[in-house]
Amino acid sequence: MLTSVPDVLLSVRALAAGYGKIGVLHGIDLVVNPGEVVALLGPNGAGKTTLLRALSGLLPWSGGAARFDGRDLRGLSPRETARAGLVHVIEGHRVFTQLSVTDNLLLAGYDLAGSERTRRVDEALSLFPEIAEKRRDRAGALSGGQQQMLAVAQGLVRRPKLLMLDEPSAGLSPVLVDRVLAVAARLREDGIAVLLVEQLIDKALALADRVYALARGQIVLEAATTEPDLPSRLEHAYFGQDVSLPLRY
Ligand SMILES: Nc1ncnc2c1ncn2[C@@H]1O[C@H](COP(=O)(O)OP(=O)(O)OP(=O)(O)O)[C@@H](O)[C@H]1O
Ligand SMILES: [Mg+2]
Repeated sequence: MLTSVPDVLLSVRALAAGYGKIGVLHGIDLVVNPGEVVALLGPNGAGKTTLLRALSGLLPWSGGAARFDGRDLRGLSPRETARAGLVHVIEGHRVFTQLSVTDNLLLAGYDLAGSERTRRVDEALSLFPEIAEKRRDRAGALSGGQQQMLAVAQGLVRRPKLLMLDEPSAGLSPVLVDRVLAVAARLREDGIAVLLVEQLIDKALALADRVYALARGQIVLEAATTEPDLPSRLEHAYFGQDVSLPLRY
């Protein structure tokens, strides 16, 4: 029987990228299946953000291949990857502080027809009652956690098949961290896959189905989060690469 859901949503093979002549990613192999939450962990400077940037078209590749939802990703612009359903919520909850919450969301859906755009904005806000209440307020008046929710909601306006979140918990209080991460669990229920870069390792492992650890631009571990010896394997993956930074819990 034909099915419209591909077995693998994102497949990345031998991806290499960097900044100018400086290589940062040295042959990344990675897979994300439809509707799964995958954690991407690794010490500072490992290349996590660089990998998300390469996948979403913000950074050119120097080698390798990747397919997303049946399409070749190589050479696509950020606009094209977002249209294909690969949405990247960048680090540091960047929102337009002078604009209202609603206008921030309408901007994220800039290319949609009017009624569809409004429907998507309402849909995204339904996941975040706390900012829905403040839809007419300036985004700059929101707390850091609420701005992070708004940044995620902006991504959801695109109705992604895969949402890539870069440290959504950074700078948030523990309560807000849980609220933002709970949305990832909710997205999985809706069949949306999430690739989550996170420094809070225990929280990421509690949420994710699978995990990749990245160190010095290479994948050093891939595992299901149900594996019982995962914390010690992760530690080995980090320190085994002669990474001097400690694991942060
Ligand atoms: N714009 C840039 N120009 C040159 N080098 C960069 C640039 N951005 C990052 N790098 C370098 O690329 C490497 C990987 O950085 P990246 O930001 O991808 O790491 P990360 O895993 O996201 O780290 P963190 O946990 O601190 O966010 C680092 O050595 C970093 O110094
Ligand atoms: Mg980073």
